[in-house]
Amino acid sequence: MVNIILLGPPGAGKGTQAKRLVDERQMVQLSTGDMLREARHSGTEMGHRVSEVMDRGGLVTDEIVIGLIEENLHHDAPGGFIFDGFPRTLKQADALGAVLDRNGMSLDHVVEMQVDDAALVARITGRYTCGNCGAVYHDATKPTAKPGICDACGSSNLRRRADDNEDALKIRLMEYYKKTSPLIGYYYALGKLDTVDGLAEMDAVAAAVAKVLDRT
Ligand code: AP5
Repeated sequence: MVNIILLGPPGAGKGTQAKRLVDERQMVQLSTGDMLREARHSGTEMGHRVSEVMDRGGLVTDEIVIGLIEENLHHDAPGGFIFDGFPRTLKQADALGAVLDRNGMSLDHVVEMQVDDAALVARITGRYTCGNCGAVYHDATKPTAKPGICDACGSSNLRRRADDNEDALKIRLMEYYKKTSPLIGYYYALGKLDTVDGLAEMDAVAAAVAKVLDRT
């Protein structure tokens, strides 16, 4: 069992690699972005509050996302947990350390996915996902085999995210550099950090991530 964080800017490929690890290693993906998108569609008070912030590209409050992670740590995860898009601030990183401690768990690796900012616009504006199973596609680099039909589950419910546009991406990137990138130094100091080239082909990125996870 291995618990890891996938760290990187919007469009770095965190969700893509997390889904492969779920399929290949019986790991459980905890994506705060997915949890928040679920909450916003649920019509709850919290869902309303986070919608506007997410569409603009800002960060939701630490309290909300820390609460979501705590609620979801009870899942049975034979291969371990993948924290995808969490933590995003130093406060969230401290909270994750504390909650893992309380549950008798530890963090094994933090995999930083390094990408060139210029590549992110093309990645983000070309992305679409399956609203039924969550599979991630891209107009140019990973289109569905049959137009409009998910390869994984056959659903025709393919969607684009409201925050996947150039204006929101600028804010998301700014938030990343101001609030999330300090975590690179934080986890380096804890001896947990590994870096992979997120610009490589998807299979090559997966191989680099696997190499980190398989290291004793
Ligand atoms: P979240 O859903 O976490 O979005 P994000 O971090 O901006 O990351 P993305 O999902 O956009 O990108 P990704 O790295 O997963 O890339 P993907 O694999 O899809 O967060 C959304 C919002 O929720 C935030 O802005 C914030 O408001 C809120 N939020 C979430 N967590 C929070 C937290 N902890 N605290 C506060 N607020 C929080 O890939 C992108 C595209 O590129 C895809 O089309 C894919 O097919 C393609 N691609 C992937 N890899 C490759 C490759 N190697 N080569 C070519 N194409 C590739």
